[in-house]
Amino acid sequence: MKSLYEQDKKYILNTYNRLDLIIEKGEGSYVFDIDGNKYLDMYSGISVNNLGHDKGIVEAIIKQASKYMHLSNYFVSEPVVNLAKLFVENTFASKVFFTNSGTESNEAAIKLCRKYGKQSNENKYELLSAYNSFHGRTTGALALTGQEKYQKNFMPLIPGVSHFKYNDIEDLRAKVNENTCGLFLEIIQGEGGIVEISKEFIDEVVKLSKKYDFLIVIDEIQAGMGRTGDLFAYEQYDFTPHIVTISKSVGGGIPLGAMLVSEYVENILQPGDHGSTFAANPVSCAGGEYVMNKLVNTDLCNEVKSKGNYLINKLNNLKEKYPHIIKEVRGRGLMIGIDVGQYVNDIKKIAQENRLLLNSTNNTIIRLLPSLCITTDEINEFLTIFEKILKEVK
Ligand SMILES: Cc1ncc(COP(=O)(O)O)c(C=O)c1O
Repeated sequence: MKSLYEQDKKYILNTYNRLDLIIEKGEGSYVFDIDGNKYLDMYSGISVNNLGHDKGIVEAIIKQASKYMHLSNYFVSEPVVNLAKLFVENTFASKVFFTNSGTESNEAAIKLCRKYGKQSNENKYELLSAYNSFHGRTTGALALTGQEKYQKNFMPLIPGVSHFKYNDIEDLRAKVNENTCGLFLEIIQGEGGIVEISKEFIDEVVKLSKKYDFLIVIDEIQAGMGRTGDLFAYEQYDFTPHIVTISKSVGGGIPLGAMLVSEYVENILQPGDHGSTFAANPVSCAGGEYVMNKLVNTDLCNEVKSKGNYLINKLNNLKEKYPHIIKEVRGRGLMIGIDVGQYVNDIKKIAQENRLLLNSTNNTIIRLLPSLCITTDEINEFLTIFEKILKEVK
């Protein structure tokens, strides 16, 4: 009998590089392999399992699944309404459109921006996003994703999309014009290596949005849902977006995404303009209700801030001790990037041997996205193993 790893290679299209590790179950901040080995999980499913492997979510979704799993968008559904209400009552949004994934949330936002633009001028359909951004892989969202490596084999993508240099105000000014209908922005570029936007840049985006009448879409798919210590990362800045796109942990581990819209644009999309068979899935929304209640009705977000500061301080101490390996520590809350240059793959390999699962992005960055519920003891466990790796790595 071939191992599950070999069968995966045989039967599944070769689009992912898998870890040679077969996980049997997850519990809190840990996962366990089929031999019973326990690993500290710093992936959290790339920010999907924001509450860790949480039994409460499981109970919530089982409860809903035992009533009904799907009805179709011809029916109103209690968990769907409840989750939308939680977003409207706790954020800038006045309405919610549910999707199944991050890329679909951005596709919905592309359509809303284009319809908004075309209401004033047929040529007002141009979209802007940053170089080094990541907004998804369907052809609309991929056009926004400002990285050649993801786009080059699939050209042409949707027309009318240009890119500006992140945090470069002059370049932004040069790219915006009266035909711009929407600008997409990550507050912290996640796939791009944990790079944070400057306040000055946001101020300029807001100024230009008023001058040229385009919509500001903040992509919180990775940075949102408490990851940075606020419900949304943009809340640290003094502005209100027109649209926020979310996904990943919104469904508590079941596929779900959403486009949150401000009152100003809540009537742009009309019946027939957009839709999805599966979204919003009632079971995903039941998971989402549980997650949102934790984020808005407990102290979890504040704890993320203090745990994040603690971890970043300790990592900066390690940077001073091992300057030949750690070049920079970046990020906010529990969304942290450690630039380790050429050592990235060795560090990941030794980490796995030491029962620590580390993710990387953008070639040189170890990306930490632990469960938001990670305890200080677990953070210390991570730091002990990480320092051991820094001593070992050649
Ligand atoms: C900022 C950002 N936007 C969009 C996406 C795409 O989300 P999905 O993979 O659910 O389509 C991602 C995925 O990593 C992301 O990090």
